Amino acid sequence: MDYQMEFAALLEKELHEHSQQDISKMIEKPRYDQQGDLAFPCFTLAKIYRKSPAAIAEGLAGRIQSSHFVKAEAVNGYINVFINKTEAAANVIAAILREGGEYGKSDIAKGSVITIDLSSPNIAKPFSMGHLRSTVIGNSLSLIAEKCGYRTVKINHIGDWGTQFGKLIVAYKKWGEEEKVRANPIKELLNLYVRFHKEAEIHPELNDEGREWFKKLENGEEEALELWHWFKEESLKEFAKVYELLGISFNSNHGEAFYNDKMEQVADELKEKGLLQESEGAQIVPLGEDMPPCLIKKKDGTTLYATRDLAAAIYRQKTYGFTKSLYVVGAEQTVHFKQLFAVLEKMGYPWHKGMTHVPFGMMLKGNKKMSTRKGKVVLLEEVIKEAIMLAEENITEKNPDLANKKEVARQVGTGAVIFHDLKNYRMNDIEFSLTDMLRFEGETGPYVQYTHARASSLLKKGNFTHTPEPFVNGEDANWPLIKSLAAFPEVITHAFEKNDPSQVAKYVLELAKKFNKYYAEVRILADDPCKQSRLTLVATVKTVLEEGLRLLGIAAPEEM
Ligand code: ARG
Repeated sequence: MDYQMEFAALLEKELHEHSQQDISKMIEKPRYDQQGDLAFPCFTLAKIYRKSPAAIAEGLAGRIQSSHFVKAEAVNGYINVFINKTEAAANVIAAILREGGEYGKSDIAKGSVITIDLSSPNIAKPFSMGHLRSTVIGNSLSLIAEKCGYRTVKINHIGDWGTQFGKLIVAYKKWGEEEKVRANPIKELLNLYVRFHKEAEIHPELNDEGREWFKKLENGEEEALELWHWFKEESLKEFAKVYELLGISFNSNHGEAFYNDKMEQVADELKEKGLLQESEGAQIVPLGEDMPPCLIKKKDGTTLYATRDLAAAIYRQKTYGFTKSLYVVGAEQTVHFKQLFAVLEKMGYPWHKGMTHVPFGMMLKGNKKMSTRKGKVVLLEEVIKEAIMLAEENITEKNPDLANKKEVARQVGTGAVIFHDLKNYRMNDIEFSLTDMLRFEGETGPYVQYTHARASSLLKKGNFTHTPEPFVNGEDANWPLIKSLAAFPEVITHAFEKNDPSQVAKYVLELAKKFNKYYAEVRILADDPCKQSRLTLVATVKTVLEEGLRLLGIAAPEEM
């Protein structure tokens, strides 16, 4: 039942100049519950009808009559209507019981494809906080898109190509030790890379050597390729540990190197289309006044990050035929993606319109960017493991006999890290704090998970049986929960439209808070004829909390 459309239909009968769609768009949600559930402002009608908004509202309110609304009131130029709560409650509860985890799904996509470029860490470097943000935001966006009917393709565009690998090879050949690298790959490779930059300040000719080795790499020379391969394998092993802890997987792991044999074609195409220009020996695509030109090839003929992204975009369109393509990458790369999309537009590809850069802010610690500064490596795997360990301590304290403690600790520890990220609008910078994110009280993942576990335990204690005819009504204690439950589908579509998982995170927080208030006020398990009906409400809240958490990439343990 779409109450907003129903209200709009009733108004349309009275206001012939406006379509139902237009009226629906004007309808607002009153700030306070006592003002009703939906409100229609009459201010813009004053001119047309030459009456005061208050008089128009008075006149119209008397004519709003429908079994779906119990009351229509004119207040200060608004018509406020009150939904028939008993009917609404029955509808929402029945829908959730019927659809279970499917509740809230839609088909705005009609089965079309969305590619999501996410995570994409750089080999031979630690998995950074920025890459964690991309992983977590991208994963949630993909789950949300799927819920909206998209076929999703999650692509991990690993940073495994570029001049830096020429430099790394030089550093390894000069100062590297195989044993050390094998024992501690990421750390050693990073040390070598850092040392290279230090020494290159005094001996700039090292940079030329680095470029030469990258050229060898691009030309497919064996020694270069072998070393590169090894560095890559070692790095991927490390990254895999992080993905396993988070429970995240990809549909494609084609990194930048995959496009090595596809870039010449792009350069040729750009030339054919008359877009390529030479500038100081390099090949560029000029992009007008408001953007720097896009660099396609350097003086020595080697390719760049942007060249690989161009090849990747064209490949993805050919392979998947996407209608939408998201790039979940930090805000510092905004110009790069503007350039990328602009070049594709110039190439005449209409599908560039479906491409979106989804930027995000930084992860801070003590107000400073958490970065892999010289020598000081924050290993993400360790951070996540620490969160899991702290979660386990917490569980041991609260519920020492829990059966699958290790797995629940993993779910709660990673849930804490993920929720802490996703509850903030992605553009905001986030302060990283393990103690904050792991609290069981307050706006945390564990709080929502705990609320879900509480609902589960109530169902068990109360021997919940699926009553064939739920008779939950819209009585005052139920209403805030019913309203939230009814809003879930809309929250998902909004989150999708704005590429904003924080809307789902904030929603589950609200629902959890309301449920805990209900739990505090109502004796759910009291033995009276309404017990199963109350438990039905609990069951629907549990279903929606679980599904909301799932859309964030967070598990909902039954007990914790
Ligand atoms: N590896 C890149 C970095 O760490 C991110 C890649 C993002 N995806 C892309 N298609 N450019 O900066």
